[in-house]
Amino acid sequence: MNKDILLWDETIFRNPEILELDHIPEKFEHRETQLKGIGYSLIPATRNMRPVNCLVSGPPGTGKTTAVLKIFNEIYENSNKVHTVKVNCQIDSTRFAVVSRIYKEVLKLKPPSSGISFLRVFENLMEKLIEEEKALIVSLDDINYLFHDGHADKIMYSLLRAHEQYPGVKIGVVVIISETGKLYNFDQKVSSVFLPEEIYFPRYNYDELYDIVTTRVEHAFFENVVSEDVKKRIVEYIDSTGDLRVGIDLLKRAGLNAERRADRKIIIEDVDNAYEKSRLLHLCRNLRSLTKDEKSLLSLVVNQNTVHAGELYSLFHDITGLGYTRFYEIVTKLESFHYLTTNFTGKGRRGRTRHIKLNYPSSDIIKCLEQSV
Ligand SMILES: Nc1ncnc2c1ncn2[C@@H]1O[C@H](COP(=O)(O)OP(=O)(O)OP(=O)(O)O)[C@@H](O)[C@H]1O
Ligand SMILES: [Mg+2]
Repeated sequence: MNKDILLWDETIFRNPEILELDHIPEKFEHRETQLKGIGYSLIPATRNMRPVNCLVSGPPGTGKTTAVLKIFNEIYENSNKVHTVKVNCQIDSTRFAVVSRIYKEVLKLKPPSSGISFLRVFENLMEKLIEEEKALIVSLDDINYLFHDGHADKIMYSLLRAHEQYPGVKIGVVVIISETGKLYNFDQKVSSVFLPEEIYFPRYNYDELYDIVTTRVEHAFFENVVSEDVKKRIVEYIDSTGDLRVGIDLLKRAGLNAERRADRKIIIEDVDNAYEKSRLLHLCRNLRSLTKDEKSLLSLVVNQNTVHAGELYSLFHDITGLGYTRFYEIVTKLESFHYLTTNFTGKGRRGRTRHIKLNYPSSDIIKCLEQSV
């Protein structure tokens, strides 16, 4: 029998769990500065000091969530004086849901789900922290999902000023925000008390991606499954999006494609075919985080492909009733996320006109927008 053909119960994956997105890698290369920044701010909590609040930001798939979880794990392993709670704001997207999540983690029981106010749950939580003499560190991951209806401002305000009303509580907040463009401005009441240590996660460059992929490949696959050429192809794909999440998904799908062909080696075609899916996964996930108005604007551009800014504004205004300032903010945000390109031409009737063009094939955007409703 040809030894390069897989038997039905054989696999090329040495440790398949290493290619799951929630896996926390042991080796976390090229993020030493960021890990130190987060560590220096939070670790004082283990010595009875109030932790320093952090603002962790950067483009998607650059290791923000993972870095914070690594520091949380370190704190958990070395101290029993601190509660660390990770809140995924995509799941817990209101002030009440956030406080309930924290309550559940700290008190190890579910808060009553109805007939109880936010303040009541919050008060019980504070009393528990005081009684235990423990600090609390909360990470609000993907906080943009709380920006609607002032939830982010309200929960931040409650957490940051808790010590004024409940003397003795020590709370630190780690805000994680996946944005390349303009950051959200908290309202005045929050920003006067939220003066965080800012930790930025830039995109990885080609060489950094190469190192990270090399380590993953070594741990995830058996020897000789991934050739140098295949690895480089994978790194090129990741480099084009900047999102390591795509890369990890790509490794997994390429491996599965090879197994489907009953091969012991991944070939370039396995990677190319996998990328078709991984690429969309990335776009769909990011589009999911846009607000309704942002999605409306994007849909309008999709229908037109290239459009004058003025025309687009009037269509947008008809649908949403929003004014020009908001329209302009959304265009700028969508451009900074690379969904759109805006450029000036010399053509328009009134001199220079701004054109807005889609950077992705319309069909991709449509597929993802349909999934995200
Ligand atoms: N330096 C690194 N070494 C090894 N793996 C990494 C590194 N940085 C990121 N990863 C991996 O890349 C994937 C994405 O990382 P993570 O989820 O932390 O990104 P993120 O910045 O939080 O992204 P998003 O903004 O989309 O939430 C994870 O599977 C993570 O394990
Ligand atoms: Mg994240």
